[in-house]
Amino acid sequence: MIGKLLKPVLLLLIFGGVVFAQDPGKTVVTTKHNKSLTVGEIAEIQPGLGTIMMEFGHRFYIAYYAAKAKNWELAKYELHELVEAQEVAETTRPKYKKQLKDFEDSSIEKLQEAVKEKDWKSFEKRYAEATKACNACHVANGHSYIRYKLPKQAPEFLDMSLR
Ligand code: HEC
Repeated sequence: MIGKLLKPVLLLLIFGGVVFAQDPGKTVVTTKHNKSLTVGEIAEIQPGLGTIMMEFGHRFYIAYYAAKAKNWELAKYELHELVEAQEVAETTRPKYKKQLKDFEDSSIEKLQEAVKEKDWKSFEKRYAEATKACNACHVANGHSYIRYKLPKQAPEFLDMSLR
């Protein structure tokens, strides 16, 4: 008898607790600067697409010069990190999820294959195609004025050469 009653009460407590904990309006944490933040506020300050795109531009261009220098490990790393950043955007800006995933499947994976095969000629060709796909997504989202172009110089802050 008690066992029968206990189950629904326990379930109520557990689910009630989950719902309560996920209410974005409830204060969840006080920072070391003595500021109380709600879940909603914490969610709001996660990187949006514009921030992730700055990372895209950065990593995409380093990957090019790394591959050109035949530093395949660095090229692989940059493309991997680019996809990680993409996954953050898929969570914070879900409306772009499908387009981002399509871009990964059609463009980034092809570049990753070229890196795996250590094939610069194929990488270079696929990079030009991927650049078109980057900019096509900008156009599709009403940002035709954002046109990525490859910087002329390799980054100066990273050594592209092999050891
Ligand atoms: C899902 C479609 C999509 C894809 C794919 C995409 N972008 Fe973007 N990009 C956007 C949107 C949308 C913006 C405008 C940001 C916003 O709305 O917050 C943007 C903005 C940018 C910016 C401007 C960032 C800034 O604020 O200075 C750069 C640079 C950029 N993208 C580079 C790239 C590169 C490089 C690629 C390919 C490797 C790429 N993007 C692929 C949708 C995309």
